[in-house]
Amino acid sequence: MSRYWSKVVHGLTPYVPGEQPKLPDLVKLNTNENPYGPSPRVIEALRAEAADSLRLYPDPASERLREAIAAFHGVEASQVFVGNGSDEVLAHAFLALLKHDAPILFPDITYSFYPVYCGLYGIEYQEIPLTESFEIRVDDYFVANGGIIFPNPNAPTARLLALGEIERLLAKNTESVVVVDEAYIDFGGESAVGLVNKYPQLLVVHTLSKSHSLAGLRVGYAIGQADLIQALVRVKDSFNSYPLDRFAQAGAIASMQDREYFDQTRHKVMATREKLVADLDALGFEVLPSAANFVFARHPQHDGAELAQALRERSIIVRHFRKPARIAPFLRITVGTDEQCQALVTALRELLA
Ligand SMILES: Cc1ncc(COP(=O)(O)O)c(C=O)c1O
Repeated sequence: MSRYWSKVVHGLTPYVPGEQPKLPDLVKLNTNENPYGPSPRVIEALRAEAADSLRLYPDPASERLREAIAAFHGVEASQVFVGNGSDEVLAHAFLALLKHDAPILFPDITYSFYPVYCGLYGIEYQEIPLTESFEIRVDDYFVANGGIIFPNPNAPTARLLALGEIERLLAKNTESVVVVDEAYIDFGGESAVGLVNKYPQLLVVHTLSKSHSLAGLRVGYAIGQADLIQALVRVKDSFNSYPLDRFAQAGAIASMQDREYFDQTRHKVMATREKLVADLDALGFEVLPSAANFVFARHPQHDGAELAQALRERSIIVRHFRKPARIAPFLRITVGTDEQCQALVTALRELLA
């Protein structure tokens, strides 16, 4: 606290990201990164970018990248907005599309950055409780609102909402924007991108941090009708004209163009997830159905915080949330390589014995 701080800063409760420890030899299963490196074509593109041209500003509109994303999804480049990680894309969406007079709606258990953006931009919100089995019930969102946002699959529960349910929501909720945050959709869900031309109020947000193995490059994007995209561009150009540097643009283009590598790695992650779920199940864990690159699991006889701490003492880190109380018994475990998941299961087996 300082008298030099603005009133806004005094009132902020910032987001706390999962830790990035500097220790070697950790089994790091706490921030939903991909255990595999990016496509070799990305590395090649980054090397080629390390050149004299770095003295020049990057393309402020990321034209070529937006074209590559548009080609990947079968939409127009005018329907694509890119940002410095999907966190930045989401932040701009809160200001550009979700700040209205009525409160916005999101689940009570969800990505904990949403209320932080509301605090930053002075947006009122109402949390809609998930069902007892941690599902989003679309009918609960059929109330007057300034906008709706949720991740699909949801985080940290990993549960998927069927595309038909999203369409039911869109058919009913036509007067405000619906943002579907598809950070984890490539690990088993069906994307809502195919609905954007039908529903002008739909914005779908993606990231290259998970399924493209590029958390370190910071690239995310949104797809919607051009009208929504223009609102995001207005905010971006009132904030930072060059959110994506030359490396980010070049690397992301190469990644969007290597669909084969993308498919290979996400299928490997999904196969490992199925084995991990079976192993956890055999140890007595209750695992929520996962369509993401992480699982959310609790053990009926063991405390979540204590298990996380005991794993940490064995150099395995997973994520544990103390709040809300309903999820305190759970561990959120990122799907690693087969070897990393095996190390986790072996450690848990010893701990539970
Ligand atoms: C649901 C959800 N949305 C968005 C993000 C942000 O991803 P990034 O800023 O790396 O693109 C995350 C990251 O963990 C997430 O879990």
